[in-house]
Amino acid sequence: MVIHSFAKVNLFLEIINKRPDNYHNLNTFFERISLRDKIILKTRRDNLIKIYCSDPHVPLGKSNLCWQAAKLLQDKSKIKKGLDIKITKHIPVGAGLGGGSSNAASILSALNKLWRLGLSKNRLAALGAQLGSDVPFFIYDTPFAQGQGRGEKIHLLKKLNRVKLWHILVVPKIHVSTPRIYKRWDACLSGRQACLPAGRAFSGLTKPASNVKIIISKLTKKNLLFEPSLLFNSLEPVTLKLYPEVRRIKEKLKRLGLKNILMSGSGGTVFAIIPSAEEAAALAKRLKKEGGPWRAFAVSTV
Ligand code: C5P
Repeated sequence: MVIHSFAKVNLFLEIINKRPDNYHNLNTFFERISLRDKIILKTRRDNLIKIYCSDPHVPLGKSNLCWQAAKLLQDKSKIKKGLDIKITKHIPVGAGLGGGSSNAASILSALNKLWRLGLSKNRLAALGAQLGSDVPFFIYDTPFAQGQGRGEKIHLLKKLNRVKLWHILVVPKIHVSTPRIYKRWDACLSGRQACLPAGRAFSGLTKPASNVKIIISKLTKKNLLFEPSLLFNSLEPVTLKLYPEVRRIKEKLKRLGLKNILMSGSGGTVFAIIPSAEEAAALAKRLKKEGGPWRAFAVSTV
């Protein structure tokens, strides 16, 4: 069985508060994008789950989210069959694009079919939430959705099903640790750390100029280029401060004259909304040719 597993960006990510379980309540807006990994599933004669991956940075053992997804369904359904899972990675790892979560969601959905388990999307999403906060978004097979709670409570936005945005993604050649970014955000909020470049207010304490409702309303009216202040990410100032490579990419995109620029998730991918496929492709080509410390992709909503 061959499956495709897509990436996401967050067009909006506001941290509401820190929870007793150390996670953070969010209000976020997910967009599924065309960058994707390929996964091949093959049944094994024994009951082992084996992972093979083209990217040496991906762990192959029990910490791999695909392994955990397969094990969860194997245990739940008392299936005796094992699996070979071969992942061809195109989605950069540790980049705020949800690659690992997407792969896990793809495994849950695929095994639900392959093993005829008959689990509903809501049930699969609840199982996915045990693996990671972004997994449920990918279960619902939707181009756009609002995420609340840890990001795992998904509100579908069917009226946006035909909306298509184009982007350039610029991914620094570093891995950003999501727990590290959230911890530093906590420290910033309690005033124990200088988190920002001098002279800038900490956005964790200021309200964003936008909210998810305004973004949805703009997209519904096919108004696809926003005022720059509409895109917002509470974590962006934290990551830009900790990883100068990410800050330099954001500055680079600004210098290219782009207006709708934002970091995705906890970073370090920085993306921009581009008016057309042609312009996005030309920009990606230009950035690749320049050969800076990044990878560049032209992508669309999918
Ligand atoms: O849920 P997931 O495993 O993707 O989260 C990775 C880490 O990111 C968590 O261990 C936590 O430190 C942080 N996180 C958070 N609040 C969220 C989502 C993630 O603090 N809503």
